[in-house]
Amino acid sequence: MSKAAESRTIWLACAGIGVIAILATLAWGRRGAIPDREPARDSAVVTEEYGKRLIAQTTEILGPDVADPRMRCTNSRLACASCHTGAGMEPGNLSLATAITRYPRLSPRSNGNETIEDRINGCMTRSMNGRALADDSLEMRAMVAYLGFLARQDAATAASLRKAHEPPAFKTPDRAANLEAGEHVFARRCAACHGRDGQGLPASPDLVQGYVFPPLWGPNSFNDGAGLHRVLTAARFVKAKMPLGKPDLNDDEAFDVAAFLNSKPRPEMADLDRDYPDRTKKPVDTSYPPYADSFSLEQHRFGPFPPIEAWYKKLRK
Ligand code: HEC
Ligand code: HEC
Repeated sequence: MSKAAESRTIWLACAGIGVIAILATLAWGRRGAIPDREPARDSAVVTEEYGKRLIAQTTEILGPDVADPRMRCTNSRLACASCHTGAGMEPGNLSLATAITRYPRLSPRSNGNETIEDRINGCMTRSMNGRALADDSLEMRAMVAYLGFLARQDAATAASLRKAHEPPAFKTPDRAANLEAGEHVFARRCAACHGRDGQGLPASPDLVQGYVFPPLWGPNSFNDGAGLHRVLTAARFVKAKMPLGKPDLNDDEAFDVAAFLNSKPRPEMADLDRDYPDRTKKPVDTSYPPYADSFSLEQHRFGPFPPIEAWYKKLRK
C-alpha cells in the first residue's frame, strides 16, 4: 500500500472513532492570533501568542528539522501540546492552566528550589528529549508569559468552565501490569491513530511540522527520564485523555497499555542516577535505579506497586 493510501486508511479508521472530536480538539489547540506559517524569528518578540505557538507547534519552531541550527532545541518531534492538550488550556490531567502559580517550589528530583523556567526545562530535556533553554531567551520568556496569561485567564473563569470532563481518576490495580493485555488494548484502541508500530502519523513527509498523531515510543518520542515514562503517571494520563476525544478505558486497561508503551525502546537520558538525591523521595514507579528500598527494578517499572507504597509509608512513620 502506498504511503498516501496508508494514511487515508488511518484517517478512515479514525473516522469511525470520533474524528469530529479529534479535529475539534486539534483546532482548539492550534487556534491563535498568529497565522500558522510565519517564520519563527519574525514573530520572536516576547508575546503570549508566541509562547502559545511554542507550546502548540513546538516542532515547527524548536524541532530538529528547522532551518536555523541555533533553533534546534528538541530531538523528539513532539509538541508540548502532545501531552499538555489544548496548548495547556484544557482543564484536567496535565493542564497548564494554573501551573505558574505553583513555582518556585522545592523539587524532590533535584533536591533544590525549582523555578518555572527550571520546570519547563525539565520537560525540554526529558519529555522533549532536547536541551535546556536559557532563562533569558525569547522562547523561554514567551512561554512563561503565556503561562502567566493562562493563570490570569483561569482566575477570571467561572468554576463550572474550569471543570475537566474526564473519567474518574485512575486507581492503581494491586497486581503487576500485564504487557500482553496491554498490547491488545494498544491494537484495539490506540493503533488506529498512533500507528500499528506506535510511530504516529507525521503532519508532513519532511517531519518539520511534527505529528498529527504523535509517536508513543522510538527515536521521535519522549526519553526514559520523562514523567510519562513512569507507568502510573502514564496510566493517569491515558485514562484521563485517551483515546483522544473518547477516553473510556478502565483502570486495568490504562495500567496495562501504559506499561506496554513503556516496555518499548526510546531515547535514553544520561546521568539519571543523579535524580532524587534523597532516594526516599523517589516516586515508586521511577523506572531507573538506584532506590532506597530493595524491590526489583522490574517491580518499580511494572508493579505491583501497593507493596512498595506500603514499605515507604512504614518508613515515614
Ligand atoms: C511526553 C509528555 C510531555 C511533553 C511533550 C511535555 N510535558 Fe510538560 N509535563 C509532563 C508531565 C508528565 C508533567 C508532570 C506532571 C506531574 O508532576 O504530575 C509535566 C509538567 C510540566 C509543567 C509543570 C506543571 C505544574 O503544574 O507543576 C510545566 C510548566 C510543563 N510541563 C511545561 C511543558 C512545556 C513548556 C513543554 C514543551 C517544551 C512540555 N511541558 C512538554 C509531560 C509532558
Ligand atoms: C483518535 C485518535 C487517537 C487515539 C485513538 C489515541 N490517541 Fe493518543 N493522542 C492522539 C493525539 C492527537 C495526541 C496529541 C494530543 C493533542 O494533539 O491534543 C495523543 C497523545 C498521546 C500521548 C502523549 C504524547 C506521546 O506521543 O506520547 C500518549 C501517551 C497517548 N496519546 C497514548 C494513547 C493510548 C495509550 C491510546 C489508546 C488507549 C491512544 N493514545 C489513542 C490521538 C489519539
